[in-house]
Amino acid sequence: MKILVTGGTGYIGSHTVVELQAKGYEVIIVDNLSNSTIEVLDNIAKISGKKPLFEKFDLIDPERTAVFFKLHNDISAVIHFAAFKAVGESVELPLMYYRNNLLSLINILQGMIDNGIRDIVFSSSCTVYGQPETLPAREDTPIQKAASPYGNTKQISEEIITDTSINADIHAILLRYFNPIGAHESAVIGELPLGVPNCLMPYITQTAIGKRPFLRVWGNDYDTPDGTAIRDYIHVVDLAKAHVIAVERLTGDKGKKQVEIFNLGTGNGFSVMEVINSFEKTSGVKLNYEIKERRPGDIVKVWADTEYANAELGWKSEKTLDEMTSSAWKWEQSLAKKR
Ligand code: NAD
Ligand code: WQD
Repeated sequence: MKILVTGGTGYIGSHTVVELQAKGYEVIIVDNLSNSTIEVLDNIAKISGKKPLFEKFDLIDPERTAVFFKLHNDISAVIHFAAFKAVGESVELPLMYYRNNLLSLINILQGMIDNGIRDIVFSSSCTVYGQPETLPAREDTPIQKAASPYGNTKQISEEIITDTSINADIHAILLRYFNPIGAHESAVIGELPLGVPNCLMPYITQTAIGKRPFLRVWGNDYDTPDGTAIRDYIHVVDLAKAHVIAVERLTGDKGKKQVEIFNLGTGNGFSVMEVINSFEKTSGVKLNYEIKERRPGDIVKVWADTEYANAELGWKSEKTLDEMTSSAWKWEQSLAKKR
């Protein structure tokens, strides 16, 4: 089976391509390389022994996307990762986010409909839950008004897919990721944040390697056991494996509804200090950090209810926090060697 992976040279996409190839799927990637590099294709090949097919173009171009789908109407399913994802940037440049994230989705759905391609897996986010009133967050926990244009693109995308499925033969699985971190055990692929990272894990590893002077811990006066905020960090390889299962479920007609939603998390919440402690333990590096004021817009705590994904997908995250932090560190060290 041939699977289209949009955004397949990106962080989560590249790990998913490796897992798809390991299961014998043929992969074609579409990516405009706006947030990734062409070398990722060779790096994927180093792990799986096979270079995926690749086309470089911008999915917001309707004509180019239509031509692509016509040419590749033998695609069995689409995994749609391609999107911009920086929350802060989306506040500064909302139109850029709405344009990129929504038009690309619309063009893909149109291409699928025009060519009889039915199945799509979509990258959604736990950001749709905001700060839930009750924890853990279940798939039916009410969605909160989005805190950023980025978050809004995820909410609107979920609606676009759901609305489209009513009168078109589109079957979808919407995967709400919690906080993906870590890298492939080979340290050949991983997260490549451009510029100064916003997210915790790359900031920790860049500080430890000497690229940043210190980590700022945003707030230690939250209503949590150690006062720092809590998230559900999930190893990117566990996340990637869930996509293969989602594709199998869609193409094997095993879904219970035309559009299904699943949380992808571990079900465990860890505080910022717990992540730092794990990192120090697994790397043996003492991290330089300072406690700062809370970061505006941050929620206090969130973690996933994974029962539905565990039961329905037969999928469960396997990797521990220590495996996440140690693989992220191995990846940062391999990047440093290349530099
Ligand atoms: P990433 O930036 O590493 O990968 C996205 C890829 O899409 C990049 O390679 C980029 O070049 C490509 N792309 C973007 N716009 C494109 C366009 N118009 N046409 C063609 N290619 C385009 O991001 P990621 O962390 O791998 O995230 C993948 C998906 O998961 C995104 O939809 C993101 O919103 C979602 N997500 C990510 C996280 C996270 O913390 N990383 C959490 C929840 C959801
Ligand atoms: C985690 C914790 C910070 C950096 C973001 C997006 C969300 C989703 C996942 C895509 C928080 C603290 C961080 C630092 C710190 N992405 N922190 N110092 O904010 O949970 O979620 O990624 O859909 O939409 O908003 O992740 O990694 O930025 O922060 O103390 O330098 O680490 O305050 O408590 P977040 P994060």
